[in-house]
Amino acid sequence: MGIVTVITSGKGGAGKSTVTAGLGCALARLGKNVVLLDGDAGLRSLDLMLGISDRAVFDMSDIFEGNCEPIRAIYPSPACEGVSVVPAPVSLDRMCSPDDMRRLCGGFARYYDHVLIDCPAGIGGGFECAVAGASRALVVTTPDMVCARDAQIVGNLLESRKIPARLIINRLRPAPVLAGKMPDVDEIIDISGLQLMGIIPEDEEVAIANANGNPLPTRSNAAVCFVNIARRYLGEYVPIAKLEKMY
Ligand SMILES: Nc1ncnc2c1ncn2[C@@H]1O[C@H](COP(=O)(O)OP(=O)(O)OP(=O)(O)O)[C@@H](O)[C@H]1O
Ligand SMILES: [Mg+2]
Repeated sequence: MGIVTVITSGKGGAGKSTVTAGLGCALARLGKNVVLLDGDAGLRSLDLMLGISDRAVFDMSDIFEGNCEPIRAIYPSPACEGVSVVPAPVSLDRMCSPDDMRRLCGGFARYYDHVLIDCPAGIGGGFECAVAGASRALVVTTPDMVCARDAQIVGNLLESRKIPARLIINRLRPAPVLAGKMPDVDEIIDISGLQLMGIIPEDEEVAIANANGNPLPTRSNAAVCFVNIARRYLGEYVPIAKLEKMY
C-alpha cells in the first residue's frame, strides 16, 4: 500500500502547494509513482503548477458524484514524469465529505507509492476533509512567529487525530537569519513543536516556475532541497544543509 500524506500549514500562503508539487516531483525523480490530490476546492493550484490546467475536464467532485470513472479525473503531468494530478473541485460547494476523501485515498493508495494531498489554508471543513484519509502529515511554515504558531496549532490538531506530523520550513533567507534579524531555525522548531523534515530556501526559481506554470528547474536550490526531503521521507539519512550553503 502507498503512503498518504497531507501537506498543511494553518496559515495561508506558507507554501503548501509549492511543497506538494516540489516533493511530488522529487519523489518521482527517485522512481516513485505519485498522485497529487488538490484539496483546495474553489482555489485550485496544482493543475497550473503541473501543467494540466488546459486538459483538466473532470475533477475530484466528479469522482464522488459518479460523473466519470476515477481514471478520467487523474491527469499525468507533462511537466514531471511519474506525477499525476487530481484537480480540486471548481467551487467550494462541491467539496467532498471526510468519508469520501477517506475512501478515495484508500483507493489511490492501492495503485500509487505516494498520495500527496494539498490542504487548503485554515482549520475548517476543508482541513477536516483533506486530513481525513492521511496517515502522515507535513506542516509547512515560513520562518516567522505567526506562521510557526499556526503550525503548532495544526500540529496539535493532527496529534489529536493520531496523524504523525513533521515540519518543513519554507522561504528561509539565510542572510537575515545569520545576521540575527530573523528567528533562526531552532526558534521556529521550538514554537511549532514539530520535528524538522527539511528546509526550503527562498528561491526566485520557485516564484518564476509557479508564475509560468513550469516545473522547478532540477538544478535550482529549492529542487535540490526537495530531493533531500524526499530521500529523508523515504527513510534515508540526509543531513540538513548548513544555512551558509543555501545561497
Ligand atoms: N521557497 C520559495 N521561494 C520563493 N517563492 C516561494 C517559495 N515557496 C512559495 N513561494 C511563493 O509563495 C506564494 C505562495 O505559495 P503557495 O501557493 O505554494 O502557498 P500555499 O500555502 O499553497 O497558499 P494557499 O494557502 O493560498 O493555498 C507563491 O507565489 C509561490 O510562488
Ligand atoms: Mg495552496
